[in-house]
Amino acid sequence: MRTVIKEKYGDYQVLKLKERPIPVPNEKQVLIKVRASTINAYDVHLVKGDPFPVRMTAGLCRPKNNQLGCDLAGVIENIGSKVTKFKKGDEVFTCLADGNGDDAYSDYVCVNEELLTLKPRGISHEEAATIPMAGLTALQSVRDFGKIQPGQKVLINGATGGVGSFAVQIAKLFGGIVTAVCRTEKEEFAYSIGADYFIDYTKENLITSREKYDLIIDVVGNHAFSEYKKVLNEKGTCVMVGFSSISHMIKVGWDIFRTRNKQQKIVLSFAKNSQVEDLEFLAEKMNDKKINAIIDQTFSLSDIQQAFQYFEAEHLNGKVVISE
Ligand SMILES: NC(=O)c1ccc[n+]([C@@H]2O[C@H](COP(=O)([O-])OP(=O)(O)OC[C@H]3O[C@@H](n4cnc5c(N)ncnc54)[C@H](OP(=O)(O)O)[C@@H]3O)[C@@H](O)[C@H]2O)c1
Repeated sequence: MRTVIKEKYGDYQVLKLKERPIPVPNEKQVLIKVRASTINAYDVHLVKGDPFPVRMTAGLCRPKNNQLGCDLAGVIENIGSKVTKFKKGDEVFTCLADGNGDDAYSDYVCVNEELLTLKPRGISHEEAATIPMAGLTALQSVRDFGKIQPGQKVLINGATGGVGSFAVQIAKLFGGIVTAVCRTEKEEFAYSIGADYFIDYTKENLITSREKYDLIIDVVGNHAFSEYKKVLNEKGTCVMVGFSSISHMIKVGWDIFRTRNKQQKIVLSFAKNSQVEDLEFLAEKMNDKKINAIIDQTFSLSDIQQAFQYFEAEHLNGKVVISE
């Protein structure tokens, strides 16, 4: 079978397609024929070993795990002797992300049954694969860290990428009034995924907005909390999802500490990737057409380098999918 290998950190030329034997599941695992995966900023960090703190878990000088890919959708082809929840032929999806076990950019993977969620028949493997990392991050940021309430004004900075396009749809699902921050040419797209208002970050600094928000979801990390306070309601919460630099990360840590007992606060979104019930929730909403999978472009596994280049170079609407 084919699998994507990275033997060192570097640019996307380090990604090579190699032949390997099909893995054999242990007693609690299933063997999955991978039908689709996606690219996340997380995968880019693991290819490049950048930002540096990534290497604390992924390997200081060289990657500990030379495979890659965390989002996964596929079909079960074989099961271990103690597997009880799934059978051959079941269509499943999951998030493998733990920095060292990721191997979804492969023809086959073995996964512990506890991590898997049944894919509804009404959504494709490509659509299901968009959900795990981006969808879970958006859901947990808006619902759990942001504690959204119906009627609240929500600002989403970075609204049209992988996490942002889910966050807009999820905030609407929970009754939020959503302002999407994105570039000029994304206006129509932002409204199409449910945004009520639009701020063009190439023309207007969101910090000068006269509007006050109850909840800010920041996927970009290009504003300090001291700036966000100007557009945050007195009891508002700012959820930090993405970071622009290590110094920004440190500053956010300090702001979280300083505001921990304040009404107007900043919190860190640290998504739990193995939340099966959250994956089921999102898949159900997608099956019921309450949330849509937003796929910008699909690449085959053999074009993995081009797929990563596209992910980095283009201003995406939603996700880049890797198909068989
Ligand atoms: N905390 C967690 O658990 C967690 C989990 C997953 C991801 N993340 C982080 O979340 C971030 C986003 O991930 P993603 O997969 O959504 O990436 P992505 O698909 O590349 O999206 C990034 C978004 O940021 C926008 N953007 C760039 N510059 C901007 C600016 N100056 N003002 C406003 N928007 C701007 C982009 O819009 P344009 O293309 O129009 O510029 C795009 O919509 C990454 O930093 C990732 O590491 C965190």
